[in-house]
Amino acid sequence: MCLSESLHLAIDSSFIHTDHLWCTPGSWHGYDYYGPSLYEDLARIAQRGCFDMIFFGDAAETPENFGDGYATPLREGYRWPKHDMMPMIPYMAMAAPNLGFGITTSTTYHHPFHVARLYASLDHVTGGRVAWNAVTSAYKNEAANWGHDVMMPPAERYERAREHLKVVTDLWASVEADAILMDRESGVFADPAKVHLVNHEGKYFKVRGPLPCLPSRQGRPVLIQAGQSEDGMNLAAKYADMQFVSRRTTRSIADHRAHLDALTVQHGRTPRDLGVFWTVRVVAGDTREDAIRKERRFLETLPDNAGLIELSFQFGFDFSKLDGRMKLVDMVDLIRSQRTYWGPFQELLNTEDPNTEIEDLGRRWITERSNFVVGSVKEVADHLEEVHEAGGRNGGIILTKSYAAPGALRDFVELVVPELQRRGLVRKRYTHDTLRGNLNS
Ligand SMILES: Cc1cc2nc3c(=O)[nH]c(=O)nc-3n(C[C@H](O)[C@H](O)[C@H](O)COP(=O)(O)O)c2cc1C
Repeated sequence: MCLSESLHLAIDSSFIHTDHLWCTPGSWHGYDYYGPSLYEDLARIAQRGCFDMIFFGDAAETPENFGDGYATPLREGYRWPKHDMMPMIPYMAMAAPNLGFGITTSTTYHHPFHVARLYASLDHVTGGRVAWNAVTSAYKNEAANWGHDVMMPPAERYERAREHLKVVTDLWASVEADAILMDRESGVFADPAKVHLVNHEGKYFKVRGPLPCLPSRQGRPVLIQAGQSEDGMNLAAKYADMQFVSRRTTRSIADHRAHLDALTVQHGRTPRDLGVFWTVRVVAGDTREDAIRKERRFLETLPDNAGLIELSFQFGFDFSKLDGRMKLVDMVDLIRSQRTYWGPFQELLNTEDPNTEIEDLGRRWITERSNFVVGSVKEVADHLEEVHEAGGRNGGIILTKSYAAPGALRDFVELVVPELQRRGLVRKRYTHDTLRGNLNS
């Protein structure tokens, strides 16, 4: 999928309006979160920086994992409200004619026929610039909104996801690109020989097909998978064009890429079929001191329990109930039994001192959850180049949430992108107007 070795740029805009960012300098104050203008401006800025994609994650829930139900997260401005961002995409697509759009829909809670048709249709509306982030949904509260008393265990979520992705990709392939003839002389609208039944009958789904949609200008939507457990890695290796990955160190980035390459080959594909966007939190300044000042200003806006709330949300356990001196190594069984984010917890175990205490981890979690860099333009560019190198120059980076928008995106585009362009790492202008075309160039 990433045929060239360019560094591709994406930005995670999932929770820019909340997660303690609403009171951070440079954030969206003065905009209306509910309307399109903030997102149109973000898209224009990302397009100015020649980004490949703006991305929106999804969890259809109200966070209740910390303390007294949803009272504390809501009071402090955490992960709520959370609208469905799908209707916002056409506004952004009009504001930024080359930018791609990643959106998220769960394989656990939605039917593959609906997903295939919706994304194929949106791909036409945007002229071939849509990616589907196919998630298995590891958040407990979300399950309760879709009719489940208990969240499906991870192995079952992934079993369903494998069947789901097979059905969606089969549906997308069920209509050939030249099926519509519109031959006025012969009076033939479409060639039925180019439209095929799917006839899927599996454990979870029964879908006859064909899909009543044509392939788009990029063929089919780009497919992203973001699980990093073994099941998640295999799913990505078999089906995805891109993987989103959160690894904290360059060492674990290199290890991840090596393992993914091996799995991709086992599934009969090549490593270049599957690019990776590595999450990186970037705080860039004109000078190192300037960047440190920005970081300090952000930290000053955070409530003391911000990291613990985020940990609770991610791992599905109420961290307010734990003894702050409990060690990471003693939490393995507790976290595994939550059946939520096992891949990311393994990463934590591999990259932290096992004797780290919860209180300390909570203090650092918002800023150190992902790979990160705080520094001058040169330091940031060096770091991103190092990440890209460790990942085998096969994909790019996704600026992870916890940045004030649009301020921090504007900083990145104005400060960092010119330096990356000077080094020949990123594009200076778009050469394609589909997402797939840009990812391959
Ligand atoms: C950049 C990025 C974005 C993600 N976005 C979502 C999302 O929008 N919704 C979601 O439920 N999970 C999201 N995830 C989580 C993964 O899809 C996956 O559910 C999680 O890693 C747990 O699965 P695992 O144990 O296989 O890693 C995201 C992960 C990453 C790295």
